[in-house]
Amino acid sequence: MLSINQLLVSINGLVLGFLVLLLILLFFNRRRRKPGEPPLDNGLIPYVGWALQFGKDPLKFLKSQQKKHGDIFTSHIAGKYITFIMDPTQFQYVIKQAKHLDFREFANEMASRTFDYPRITEAKFPQLRDNMHRIYKIMQGTALDKLTDSMMGNLQHVFKWKFSQATDWKIEKMYQFCCGIIFEASFMTLYGKDPVADGHKLISEIRENFTKFDAKFPYLVINIPISLLGATRKVREELIHIFFPNKMAKRSEVSELIQTRKNLLDQYDVLQDHDRAAHHFAFLWASVGNTIPAAFWAMYYLVRHPEALAAVRDELDHLLQSTGQKRGPNYDLHITRVQLDSLVLLGSAINESLRLCSASMNIRVVQEDFVLELEGDQAYNLRKGDFVAIYPPTLHKDPEVYDDPEVFKYDRYVENEKEKTTFFKKGKKLKNYLMPFGSGVSICPGRFFAVNEIKQFLAVILLYMDMEMVENKIIGQDNSRTGLGILLPNSDIKFRYKPRKFDL
Ligand code: HEM
Ligand SMILES: *[C@@H]1O[C@H](CO)[C@@H](O)[C@H](O)[C@H]1NC(C)=O
Ligand SMILES: *[C@@H]1O[C@H](CO)[C@@H](O)[C@H](O)[C@H]1NC(C)=O
Repeated sequence: MLSINQLLVSINGLVLGFLVLLLILLFFNRRRRKPGEPPLDNGLIPYVGWALQFGKDPLKFLKSQQKKHGDIFTSHIAGKYITFIMDPTQFQYVIKQAKHLDFREFANEMASRTFDYPRITEAKFPQLRDNMHRIYKIMQGTALDKLTDSMMGNLQHVFKWKFSQATDWKIEKMYQFCCGIIFEASFMTLYGKDPVADGHKLISEIRENFTKFDAKFPYLVINIPISLLGATRKVREELIHIFFPNKMAKRSEVSELIQTRKNLLDQYDVLQDHDRAAHHFAFLWASVGNTIPAAFWAMYYLVRHPEALAAVRDELDHLLQSTGQKRGPNYDLHITRVQLDSLVLLGSAINESLRLCSASMNIRVVQEDFVLELEGDQAYNLRKGDFVAIYPPTLHKDPEVYDDPEVFKYDRYVENEKEKTTFFKKGKKLKNYLMPFGSGVSICPGRFFAVNEIKQFLAVILLYMDMEMVENKIIGQDNSRTGLGILLPNSDIKFRYKPRKFDL
């Protein structure tokens, strides 16, 4: 008779044998390149393909594939076939292909799983997606004036509360500092006030829960079950509960944007209260998840480069002078949206930091077999169900487009005191040279508001404070968010600040 041990060993042997057979089968059944398709690279390991190399350092991986295969190729990554477009002069031909290349299904699936609301399908929620996009116009053009004014007020409110005591140098961690201010000011600007609770305390508790959820966000995106992520489900539930209809109804000074979005969601009877709240939570994530690290990097680079900080501050001082404003404990700053637009140096410094820290993958799904036509009579057959991807860091770190691409040059986007828009690759002027906010149909609808927020944040701290690094270390990027948006720093860093001398 077989002992249990022998049985286990033989079962193990069977399983192992089966796996080896499966691998061999997979290996010989690998996809083969058909005529007219881009070069195909399956990688060595069946199913996994290039997932490990890609996950570790996408930019390095993509560059090595580019060396092997050229400017367009299909890589097999974790069971998916992804065709990468590496030549930025070709990006526009992919971006305009909205008919054959769809992003909504992909984004919808990911968002509904991550934020816990039912997938937005046309059958169940007619027009919901289009209606939502119409509302996002409140974040653009002159409609943005109101949000901008409100943000300015809230930033100064948070700022004054935080710094009322500061007279001498005070040391703080920079990421924490940014996170605290941006979260509270954005939250109040969008979602208004809770009339009962102490605003600062409540919002900082919400922020703590948000930070816990956000830390697990990359795992949710790659489909790790939430039950394996500790308290994440509970924290997410708490965050969703903030936006239940009975709670939302009590808030005052809710922005027109959120109010309109709420009214829209209320019209869809098939949505449960929980689903509506989850949509609001998703929007909260979209509105601060990237803005906080983006504000951090902009601040970090400016404080690290005193000459850049001085130049940007000079531009701000001039704006105040030319608008007849004084800085002082009893003055409020008024900078309109149009005035923010005129701050070219500040805008350039922010764009330069976005160039260095953004890593969002632009992904599309091929809807049916079709021929992708690129410039110069190039054409490639693509297969239904495959992905097509643009990874902006390949452009942002290209030494042909940006000399010394690793170096922060605050005035890279300025020429003759105006915004510089001419960047070249292979002698051609690039239509897309900076893509932190995605592209085409999936471009971030909050991008103008986001840049304004960061401008306002920097304006307030540069005008009111002197700042210096305390630690001399150079911090790097944490790659766990690669593909998803703005990268976080791999550690926090101490800096010190004190009130700047006021005008008399
Ligand atoms: C620096 C800050 C920000 C960055 C880098 C950023 C980046 C992005 C990117 C790359 C996408 C597209 C994702 C895709 O391709 O699927 C996106 C989508 C989105 N963003 Fe932003 N974003 C920022 C700030 C904001 C702000 C402040 C808001 C709102 C107040 C916002 C609202 C949204 C929304 C609602 C979407 C989804 C749009 C859709 O359904 O198509 N974002 N963002
Ligand atoms: C934060 O989450 C915890 C549970 O993880 C909960 O007890 C607490 O009430 C939440 N705070 C807020 C302000 O939602
Ligand atoms: C910064 O980049 C955005 C696009 O992301 C652009 O609209 C804006 O004009 C740029 N500003 C400057 C000063 O380059």
